[in-house]
Amino acid sequence: MHESKIQTLNEVIIQEQSAFPYAKGELSRLLMHIGLAAKIVNSKINKAGLDTSILGSNEKQNIQGETQQKLDDFANTIFIKALQASGIVCGVASEEDDEIVVFNDNLSLDGSYIICIDPLDGSSNIDVNVSVGSIFSIYRKISSFGRKVTNEDFLQPGNKQVAAGYVIYGSSTMLVYTTGYGTTAFTYEPAIGEFCLSTKFMTTPESGRIYSINEGNYIKFPIGIKKYIKYCQENDPISNRPYTLRYIGSLVADFHRNLLKGGIYIYPKTAVSCFGKLRLLYECNPIAFLAEQAGGKATDGYGNRILDIKPESIHQRVPFVVGSAKMVLKVEEFMQEFGDGYNDEH
Ligand code: AHG
Ligand code: MN
Ligand code: MN
Repeated sequence: MHESKIQTLNEVIIQEQSAFPYAKGELSRLLMHIGLAAKIVNSKINKAGLDTSILGSNEKQNIQGETQQKLDDFANTIFIKALQASGIVCGVASEEDDEIVVFNDNLSLDGSYIICIDPLDGSSNIDVNVSVGSIFSIYRKISSFGRKVTNEDFLQPGNKQVAAGYVIYGSSTMLVYTTGYGTTAFTYEPAIGEFCLSTKFMTTPESGRIYSINEGNYIKFPIGIKKYIKYCQENDPISNRPYTLRYIGSLVADFHRNLLKGGIYIYPKTAVSCFGKLRLLYECNPIAFLAEQAGGKATDGYGNRILDIKPESIHQRVPFVVGSAKMVLKVEEFMQEFGDGYNDEH
């Protein structure tokens, strides 16, 4: 009996590319550079407990008023450098930069792609050794060949994504990506310094028993969401309720668990933040693409598919409901029936 062969990220990418005879190999090269950046960030995160120079905040705020952690900054720099080094990316929109970063060198100007990134997701969890992640999203640029990219290049709806993925720095480090032909997962093997194939064509259960939402905001939620939470907590042996609440506070980690086990993640609008918290370009679109490719669903809770929303600004926020298809539809039903208003009912 022979053991099944280990396949690295680069091997799988090259194999996939050979299925498309006209592909120039650019996307493959780009994904390899993302893999490389992920390894560097991973090694820094793994040492966080030893290297106090990278723990804590750098006393700056990003454009969204959130305190930047030192590792937010580090991961942002590493990803942007790796993307520029690929020579096929013309610009990057990052959660950590107020404006888009435009690459002006000759090589990059001829590139075909633009990237949206959340370099470090869940960064408030770094100092306490809880899973964090990186999220990326790849589009073709729309500005003409050889021209510098503008904001318009980044304001494409998520259904135009060429590829998307995330890295989860968890009890093991994994890279999960899609190019629109299923969702594929790799696990990092530190002994050889490679991401190795774990699962091709991942599928998420159509229903599950986990709900993930920051219930601390309960009294500020719209009525439809409050009623859905009560539904999750009710006893009903037929639909296997009550469900279990799991919330890490790192979207990547919460989503990854629910993808494997079946469940729902909700970040709704609240009485104090009328678009919720999560960012359409850096968080919702890539996660929605991966969810759909695994058979799940992603909406804003109001019947709108996340991937069909046309962004108006790069840092735009949107209410987010993602996970097992039947559970997402249930939330939609509750929002329709009980509405979007606020009341004092607990
Ligand atoms: P980031 O660290 O990139 O700013 O993202 C944090 C996000 C997301 O990962 C997480 O699910 C959510 O914020 C948690 O927000 P609350 O603390 O409001 O629940
Ligand atoms: Mn994030
Ligand atoms: Mn972030």
